[in-house]
Amino acid sequence: MKTVVSGIRPTGNLHLGNYFGALRNFIKMQETNNCYFFIADYHSLTTHPTPADLHGNVKNVLIDYLAAGLDPEKATLYLQSDVPEVAELYLFLNMNAYKGELERVTSFKDKARVQPDNINAGLLTYPTLMAADIIIHKAHMVPVGKDQEQHLEMTRTFANRFNRMYKVDYFPEPVAYNFGEELIKIPGLDGSTKMGKSEGEGNAIFLGDDSAIIRKKVMKAVTDAGPTQQNQPKPQAIQNLFYLMQVMSKPEMLSFYEEEYKNCRIRYGDMKKQLAEDVIAFTEPFRERIKELSANNEYLRKVVSIGRDKAHESAANTIREVRNIIGFRSF
Ligand code: TRP
Repeated sequence: MKTVVSGIRPTGNLHLGNYFGALRNFIKMQETNNCYFFIADYHSLTTHPTPADLHGNVKNVLIDYLAAGLDPEKATLYLQSDVPEVAELYLFLNMNAYKGELERVTSFKDKARVQPDNINAGLLTYPTLMAADIIIHKAHMVPVGKDQEQHLEMTRTFANRFNRMYKVDYFPEPVAYNFGEELIKIPGLDGSTKMGKSEGEGNAIFLGDDSAIIRKKVMKAVTDAGPTQQNQPKPQAIQNLFYLMQVMSKPEMLSFYEEEYKNCRIRYGDMKKQLAEDVIAFTEPFRERIKELSANNEYLRKVVSIGRDKAHESAANTIREVRNIIGFRSF
């Protein structure tokens, strides 16, 4: 059995792009692996240090993940800040992490550009904290997207450096688990190739959106005046609409509108009405569960507490051994 670790930054509600990206694959992985999925609330302090939002953001993400099917009986679901051993390992790793290598990390350079007045040490050492998250459970696999490859490379560097410095074979080298074919990239409703919350209002459909909002967003999706010649190639925004229909609707629907497009008879308004209803049907169970979970604080508390205990057991074990390897001994 492989140990899998992945972290989720609590930066807002989940949308269909998140679901068809990482989330659906987490749900599959929990069936056959020893999975640790956590909410990276320590990490959020590097960019979003607002106490008033922190708890609410964490809660939203937790609810969305549970609603989508992460199962606390199968995977260990926990909050990063509930496991202070992570912070201790971060401290140890920072002692052997160099300013130069941290400054060269692309995500650091990007964020330093975005927040020039707040280039804090947490931002610089984001990769050591992420490495601590991963190796604290001696993970073998980390399911992350391409944008995290460099962080994972650093994780391997820090894990290997620890082994080398202390002449042990302690931390395994974690590898990125790339979903490849299984990854469905959901386009945005604004004609862009990616659904994302930073792309602006209306571009993303959230798992908890109610039906009126979904109708409104889908009806507003970018289209054009329609094809004027048979078999005309589709512009990006139109391709997006068809792709969404391919994921959300029955195959007959898709082929009906393909045919209409080919013959220049397509009415985007009708197509969007259909798509909106199919999206509403698809998201119905998420919506229901989000509502239930939001009203059930007792259950959420139980989930977090069970996760904390399981994560803590694994982390405390690692820290005990790491302290011993580094040379901390008790009198
Ligand atoms: N950096 C990741 C992101 O931005 C979040 C993250 C933090 C993470 N710690 C992790 C992912 C450990 C995988 C493993 O998405």
